[in-house]
Amino acid sequence: MKKLSALLLALTLLVSCVPVLAAETPASGSHILVVYFSATGTTKGVAEKLAQGLNADLYEIVPEQPYTDADLNYNNSKSRTSIETNDPACRPAIAGELPDLAAYDTVFIGYPIWWGDTPRIVSNFVEQVDLTGKTLAVFFTSGSSGLGNSMRHLEQQSGAGTWLEGKRFTARAKVEDLTAWAKTLGIEP
Ligand SMILES: Cc1cc2nc3c(=O)[nH]c(=O)nc-3n(C[C@H](O)[C@H](O)[C@H](O)COP(=O)(O)O)c2cc1C
Repeated sequence: MKKLSALLLALTLLVSCVPVLAAETPASGSHILVVYFSATGTTKGVAEKLAQGLNADLYEIVPEQPYTDADLNYNNSKSRTSIETNDPACRPAIAGELPDLAAYDTVFIGYPIWWGDTPRIVSNFVEQVDLTGKTLAVFFTSGSSGLGNSMRHLEQQSGAGTWLEGKRFTARAKVEDLTAWAKTLGIEP
């Protein structure tokens, strides 16, 4: 009988704990999402620092088919990235689920410059999610190129949202550099 009572007590505790644990799962509560694509890690580093400085959530655009070194060889006109760049309609598939943007009013989008433009997979992202009503800013990394028309292309492809600015950062950018930039756009945690 004692054993049965102990078992019932344990079960009661277990069941009563479940909703408590679920309720304690922290929702970040942030209104900012930092989205990025990075093939070799440079943009990823910048994105992580931006998210850290703004207490924002992070979403990585992961290609269903990862880019190999051979894919990234821009000296080879037959490499995967060269072929994708030469095909404006190409939209490489994104692995996993797309983020639910409902909780965010501000979305940063980070990418490396490829052939003076955004990688096609980023175009795929902005076409698949609904950016209506969102404030957007892009950040990018590159060997030396500037923004070019990359942000305007994303804006056209998305057809929604208010696109503020695009800015280049290097791997040396500090958290403070990124939050200072965001502040100039009126974006704070
Ligand atoms: C296919 C390809 C095309 C690139 N095109 C350019 C370019 O037009 N201008 C430039 O400055 N850098 C270019 N780069 C260099 C990348 O923009 C740079 O290395 C970037 O920081 C990489 O970011 P990631 O490490 O996040 O992938 C290119 C790189 C690749 C792989």
